[in-house]
Amino acid sequence: MEKLRFIHMSDLHYRKEYAAHGFEALISAKQHPQENVTKCLQKEKAEGLDFVLITGDLTHEGETEDYTALQELLKSELGDIPFILLPGNHDRREAYRTVFKQYITEESTDESTDESTDSVFDIKGLKIITLDTGRSINGEITKSQTEWLAEVLRQPSERGFLLALHHPLIDNQDGLPPALFPDAFTEVVKNSHILGIFCGHTHHNYIAQFAGKPYFTADSMAFSMVSGEDMLTFKDCAAYTVMELSGRILSAGVRQVVPVITDIASFSSDKLSQLFSE
Ligand SMILES: [Fe+2]
Repeated sequence: MEKLRFIHMSDLHYRKEYAAHGFEALISAKQHPQENVTKCLQKEKAEGLDFVLITGDLTHEGETEDYTALQELLKSELGDIPFILLPGNHDRREAYRTVFKQYITEESTDESTDESTDSVFDIKGLKIITLDTGRSINGEITKSQTEWLAEVLRQPSERGFLLALHHPLIDNQDGLPPALFPDAFTEVVKNSHILGIFCGHTHHNYIAQFAGKPYFTADSMAFSMVSGEDMLTFKDCAAYTVMELSGRILSAGVRQVVPVITDIASFSSDKLSQLFSE
């Protein structure tokens, strides 16, 4: 069976243009995320790619024009190589759906609501399932999403399944809580042919197992945060993961885009709340 090679990236926090103050000014302080994405795709495309998976926070509270610009960027760099997206807590669902829904969803998954962006894609016999964990800060997988997932996983898939979502499922990754999910979700994943689970949100790569399945969290392509004694430091870290699927085995290699990571700024907790309110 042919090897599949793909990129897992996350948390682009993309805007066409960023505000010159507040949190948005931090994101573009050193390097615009567009430069990071372009560098990554040009390098990896040259080495061969079957698809690109981006696990949310595509934009930073972006408008429709930001999603359109991101779509143009991905299309111009990737050509015919497919990309699979899902929204994160910083994505605005309406703008996301306006630009991406009509062509990224090959199989509509939840007819009961127009709001759903949960989808299934088939790339060379591999089924990739995306779940929307919502706009709440810590994320949630609902009972009806779990039932839908179980139904999808009962369908045949020549090469098995990947599951992609924005929020983490494992507790205390970089001090963050996991998404809320029903106990049945763990059982559904455990008893499935899922080969790997992919998420973002923490802005730090992490590899583990969830319900006995390989589990990968990607870095951010925009920035990282490191907490110290009552201080939070933003860094210009940008990285992604190159994945290879050989048979049913996934291998992962983290690649840095910014060769030397430097601090953008540090804030005490009271200054931080001020920053977010600007
Ligand atoms: Fe993020």
